[in-house]
Amino acid sequence: MKGIILAAGSGTRLYPASLPISKILLPIYDKPMIYYPLSTLMLAEIRDVLIITNQSDHAAFKRLLGDGSHLGINIQYSIQRVQRGIADAFIIAEEFINRENVVLILGDNVFYDPSFPTLLKNIIKRSDGATILGHKVSDPKRFGVVEFDENRKVISLEEKPENPKSSYAATGLYFYDDRVCEYAKQVVPSSRGELEITDLNKIYMRNGKLGVEPLGDEFTWFDTGTHDSILLASNKIKELELKNKMKIGCIEEIALKQKFISAEDLTRNINKYKDNGYYDYLKELVKNS
Ligand code: DAU
Repeated sequence: MKGIILAAGSGTRLYPASLPISKILLPIYDKPMIYYPLSTLMLAEIRDVLIITNQSDHAAFKRLLGDGSHLGINIQYSIQRVQRGIADAFIIAEEFINRENVVLILGDNVFYDPSFPTLLKNIIKRSDGATILGHKVSDPKRFGVVEFDENRKVISLEEKPENPKSSYAATGLYFYDDRVCEYAKQVVPSSRGELEITDLNKIYMRNGKLGVEPLGDEFTWFDTGTHDSILLASNKIKELELKNKMKIGCIEEIALKQKFISAEDLTRNINKYKDNGYYDYLKELVKNS
């Protein structure tokens, strides 16, 4: 199973904040945004990750995450030169995917729930078709909107519809079988000139192969594409971290817990950092492990 993080947007909606730095590297509370989607892939036990960035932000992502060896995973990078749409990820990543099943997560999607690791592992066991996650929202017009039957089969899927058929947004986390690259090549640009992820998912839907997992109301999900959602997500993460006395989206902790790295590896990597709450938390974790 391969994992892709799409982090190549121009981020103009967040200018000037995202002019010198990719939106996906801006902080959500106490860590860069990309830590959250990367932690989702790691919780799904995915250790082969491709990060797709734009040309100008490529070096900054590499400086932050390197080749992933400090996390016991393998991180590769590709560049999306023109913002051709989310489904373009499967054209860019075809060689990396190498006919395996693959998970795509958008760089600005933040998920949290205690049940999430189990849900991820269960979805990944399905080897055939595609699965998306639905989350109830008050403003479905801003998202892909998914309508489904009692068997969680998708009946309709529309990108930012004027008259949404349900209040379930399709989140930016997608699970595919090994046909995804072939289907991505069949997608034609939409009226806004993009290869829409919704159109790719509709190919699976028409074949009766698109399932949805509705997330409960208590499940935390943010599309952190606006200043307000960044602030909301930051406050929520802070609140959850204080309440649960643990960090969320802490990739080093997940690497340790998943046994991708040992306590000795982690100590070696973080010992140089002094007077820093994030690394003090990890040092405490090692001490108690
Ligand atoms: O977050 C969930 C939503 O994400 C879904 O409900 C929608 O169906 C899906 O289309 C998407 O909608 P957005 O309006 O959030 O898409 P946006 O264009 O903002 O792109 C999402 C992220 O993907 C963003 O961080 C930038 C990145 N991106 C996007 C495009 C179009 C790329 O890296 N390359 C691209 O070509």
